[in-house]
This record gives sequence, C-alpha cells and structure tokens, in this order.
Amino acid sequence: MEFICAGNWKMNKGPADAAAYLKSLKEMAQGDELSHVVLFPPAYCAPAVAEGTKGTAIRWGSQNSFPAPNGAATGENSPTAFKDMGAMVGLVGHSERRHIFGEPDEAIAKKVQFLQSVGVTPLLCVGETMDDRRWSRTSEVILRQIRIGLTAADPNLPLWIAYEPVWAIGTGEVATPLQVEEVHSILRNYLLEWSAAASATTPILYGGSVKSDNVQSLASLSHVSGFLIGGASLDPKEFLSILRLAREARGNR
Ligand code: PGA
Repeated sequence: MEFICAGNWKMNKGPADAAAYLKSLKEMAQGDELSHVVLFPPAYCAPAVAEGTKGTAIRWGSQNSFPAPNGAATGENSPTAFKDMGAMVGLVGHSERRHIFGEPDEAIAKKVQFLQSVGVTPLLCVGETMDDRRWSRTSEVILRQIRIGLTAADPNLPLWIAYEPVWAIGTGEVATPLQVEEVHSILRNYLLEWSAAASATTPILYGGSVKSDNVQSLASLSHVSGFLIGGASLDPKEFLSILRLAREARGNR
C-alpha cells in the first residue's frame, strides 16, 4: 500500500503563501519524497498550487466539492473544474464539514460517487466525537459513516479513507496507537467485506494532531497507510520532517 502524507491547509494561506510554500517544499525535498505528498489548499489557492506543483510528483485536491459539474450551487466547488486544473483527490466528509456545516452521510455518499465518476479519488473522512467514544459508540459511528459513505461508490475505482477522531482534530490530543489500530482494523475489515480488491488498494490514513514528535509511534502500525495533517502541515519544514520520520518508522516504505 502506498504511503501518503497529506496536508489539509483548511482556510489558511492565500495564493502568494501557497506559491512560497511550494517553493520551499521543493527546495527542501530529497529523492522521491514529493511522491508521498498530497495537498488540500483552499479553493482560491488552486491556481497557485497547480502552477507550483507542475512537473513534480505532488498531488493535490479540493477540501470540499459539490456533486455536479456545474449549476446553481453558490459558493461550492465543481469537481470537474478542479480536475481540469490538475486536482487528483478530493476530501469528502471532513469533520468540519460534518459538524460546522451539518453535512449528513447521504450528502457525503453523493460526493464520493460523483468524484469517482469524474476520475477524482475521494478521500472519505470518518471519525467519532468524544461523546461517542465515552459512550462506547465509536465502532457504531465509524461503521455507519463508512457504510453510508460508500453506498454509491464503485469498488473498482480508486478510493482513500481517513480516520480522524473529532476530539483529536486541532486539539493537540492525539489518539493512542491502540485506539488507532482498533479503528483502522474495523475499517479494514469493513473494506474487505465490501470488496477484497478495493481493500487491497485503499489506503487508510490517520488524522488528528499529527506532529513530528508523535508521528513515529503511529507510522509503524500495520493498518496505518499515511497521515492527514492539518495544523502541522502549514509549515513546509515541519511537514517534511513528519514525512521523513514516518517513512523512517516504516522502514522507508
Ligand atoms: P490537525 O487537523 O492535524 O490540525 O488536528 C487534521 C485535520 O483536520 O485533517
């Protein structure tokens, strides 16, 4: 399974910052490091990111998308327009979309399906709240999110999954290796039942307060295929050091 180090900039950085970020990332990277990098810039940074990643192995995509190529959807992002600009991946169901904007599982399922249909890989995010965990509802919530999220998905088309416990996002509180391993194996087993072929190629990332000082204990876990990093991805030096430490912990895979 390929190793992915994805940076979710959320609503941070403008086009000039994006260009400067890519310049330093490219200057600092060595060997094939950039082939593991995936960036999710805000939509208005897309042209700068498309330009700055030209001729590199860096992949990038949208933080949110509307399940149609165009139409009356004020303020939304067209997946086909993103794809025309070079986007290869699209975040779907990030916890901020679910919790701040009230996106239900059914709407998320339509986005997953539409992205796949236009040749963009959906990165479906799932994760429980602290209340869910306290009340032992973690596996129930995760399984509901992945089951409904994939109802219209095609197991023969590329798909990525991220486990992001809501209580670990932007809080500095990272899930323990045991908690991560437990949920990742629930997700992996679900994928196996859904489609053995899809399971063999679908990476499952962990996200939630990943930093250079906590990444190594998670990177070596057998069910973790990479990371989705928010705050710590905003500095290219820290982002690259997370990538390097993670690869080292995985035996440079
Ligand atoms: P964080 O965000 O690394 O700042 O916790 C992760 C995410 O929201 O994808």
